[in-house]
Amino acid sequence: MRIPFIAGNWKMNTTATEAEKLVIEMLDNLDRIKGVEKVLCPPFVSLVAINMMLQDSFIKLGAQNMYFEIEGAYTGEISPLMLSELCEFVILGHSERRWYFGETDEIVNKKVKAALANTLQPILCVGERLEENEAGRTEEVIDRQVTAALNSIEPVSNLVIAYEPVWAIGTGKAASGEQATATIQFIRDVLTKLWDKSIAQDLRILYGGSVTSANIAEFISHPEIDGALVGGASLKAGEFVNIVEQAAEIKGRTRTK
Ligand code: PGA
Repeated sequence: MRIPFIAGNWKMNTTATEAEKLVIEMLDNLDRIKGVEKVLCPPFVSLVAINMMLQDSFIKLGAQNMYFEIEGAYTGEISPLMLSELCEFVILGHSERRWYFGETDEIVNKKVKAALANTLQPILCVGERLEENEAGRTEEVIDRQVTAALNSIEPVSNLVIAYEPVWAIGTGKAASGEQATATIQFIRDVLTKLWDKSIAQDLRILYGGSVTSANIAEFISHPEIDGALVGGASLKAGEFVNIVEQAAEIKGRTRTK
């Protein structure tokens, strides 16, 4: 059974002081919600403090990026080994990394390998751009990104994939539940081809892109969609808690049917 999963990607927002305040605002209410794996991904500079704040909670911690080498002369980079003391998850291949910082499929593949080798669970992001979507090339792009990211990696169960169409990120224009479901089903087909059917059915696949408390139900009510990677809406405590509550409620209901 795939446990529903909601992660908040705070991106380059919050100072260390603001991040601690945001955690205090949501901690108790978030922690109370059962049946959903809850993950916060604050900026690197807040990981140590938030790791301590979450010690006695069921809320998990993730980083937003990392380099693929373990240590060495790579000024300014953060390694998987450093993260492995602090977090369980790491977002990799986010479209903002791909498009603003030139991360190629090959780099994403190296990062996925390095994360897995250091007990970090990747949240691997894939998604097509608007022009690719409009040209009917969504499946081609997704196939390439998933296949390249997992190149020469043995089947693993500690991997989460997030389908994030680039045109839906931060735009307020979310995909529809049907669109997201179709692409997520396609990702399972790609995983079946790469690995096998049982692992493709076991891995959690999320939707991301302008998810809010007003539209989470549309995604989470589809059995194929296991949760969400939430950007902007995860920076408001009440909004994020509401999203996780709805996910718990709807997935709990559909499961006991
Ligand atoms: P958004 O970002 O929810 O602000 O669209 C999602 C993401 O980039 O993960």
